[in-house]
Amino acid sequence: ATPTSEIRKGLAGVVADTSAISKVNPATNSLLYRGYPVQDLAARVSFEEVAYLLWHGELPTAEQLAEQTRAERAARTLPDDVKAAILELPTACHPMDVCRTAVSQLGAHDPQAEDSSVEAELAKALRLWAVMPSVVALDQRRRRGELGVEPRDDLGYSANFLWMAFGAEPEPAVVKAFEASMVLYAEHSFNASTFTARVITSTLADMHSAVTGAIGALKGPLHGGANEAVQETFEEIGSADRAVAWLEDALASKKKIMGFGHRVYKNGDSRVPTMRSVLGDMVEHYGEPGVLDLYDTLEQAMFERKNIRPNLDYPAGPAYHLMGFDTNIFTPLFVASRMTGWTAHVMEQRAANALIRPVCEYNGPEQREVPGSAR
Ligand code: SDX
Repeated sequence: ATPTSEIRKGLAGVVADTSAISKVNPATNSLLYRGYPVQDLAARVSFEEVAYLLWHGELPTAEQLAEQTRAERAARTLPDDVKAAILELPTACHPMDVCRTAVSQLGAHDPQAEDSSVEAELAKALRLWAVMPSVVALDQRRRRGELGVEPRDDLGYSANFLWMAFGAEPEPAVVKAFEASMVLYAEHSFNASTFTARVITSTLADMHSAVTGAIGALKGPLHGGANEAVQETFEEIGSADRAVAWLEDALASKKKIMGFGHRVYKNGDSRVPTMRSVLGDMVEHYGEPGVLDLYDTLEQAMFERKNIRPNLDYPAGPAYHLMGFDTNIFTPLFVASRMTGWTAHVMEQRAANALIRPVCEYNGPEQREVPGSAR
């Protein structure tokens, strides 16, 4: 039966609340974090300063940054029980399941788990942000049959992440590229995983429950899982000369082309130019020009046929591959970055809360009698 009310499937275009954390503006194809253009932040500000900005609304002073850095570096080490839990999870499960399980376990052990005061929420947000690189790096290494690498407190967030993932002193060019990706992935208004975190928070459940739910939402290939799927697409196509044939075949079988399209941006994702130049830096650094040939050919072919442009996951996937990450680790990298945006939204939701509970229009059977007890 056709619904009588106006249904907005997928809540497309529905303004569910206000937020001061970021502004996604499709009309100008721009993204502001607390008023600052994201491309300027990616070029000039550290991810540590962006984390502070998202949580507190202002960039940190030198002392505020020093205090946050001290706390972050002290919170990088995985508690032994969480480490043990990760090591005994089957490597057949997806690394996103490991992230989800680790956050759940961290919450069960966090003495402030049920404390929703502003101080406790900020402390939990920082601890979750600080420890995720250890979770992601350990999981990649155990899948490779390598031992975990302990964090180093003489390295910044991004350099330490690379150190733990690969057990080698990271090159400055790679640290710079990785850090730019962390800034670009950090926050994006009411995307599906962030809105999931807000729905969970709106019942006054705790931050770890909200983040666990957000990780579940981000795993899907229509959302965070797309960056992993882009790399798989690149490997399936192989080289630029096969891109058009592959695309036409995929479109003919009604496939969604991963890394393309966006619910809000309709003529390009504001973050792509910056991430595309990061990819270009990595292509140059590793001497892999074929990647850009394939990237540009597929982008052009998709635009010509569907008038659809790339989203952030399209350049991010191949860039992470060049940096050396396993493909199934790409979305956990997104988790590590988006931990900042998710927790900022959890705190904002709690500060001006209303239970998120929409209605639906019933289209099941009309009321009817339960069969008598004649049986
Ligand atoms: C992220 O919300 C956010 O901000 C998310 C994110 C963030 O920072 O948090 O930006 C991160 O999740 C980016 C998106 C990553 N996902 C993918 O790359 C997966 C592939 N993309 C598509 O599934 C799609 O573009 C979505 C899900 C991203 C958006 O889809 P919408 O807004 O629901 O639009 P739609 O699926 O209804 O598509 C409209 C039309 C359809 O054609 P018709 O069926 O009407 O003929 O465009 C077509 C779609 O088939 N289309 C695509 C396509 N995207 C849209 N066709 C092929 N390939 C695509 N990628």
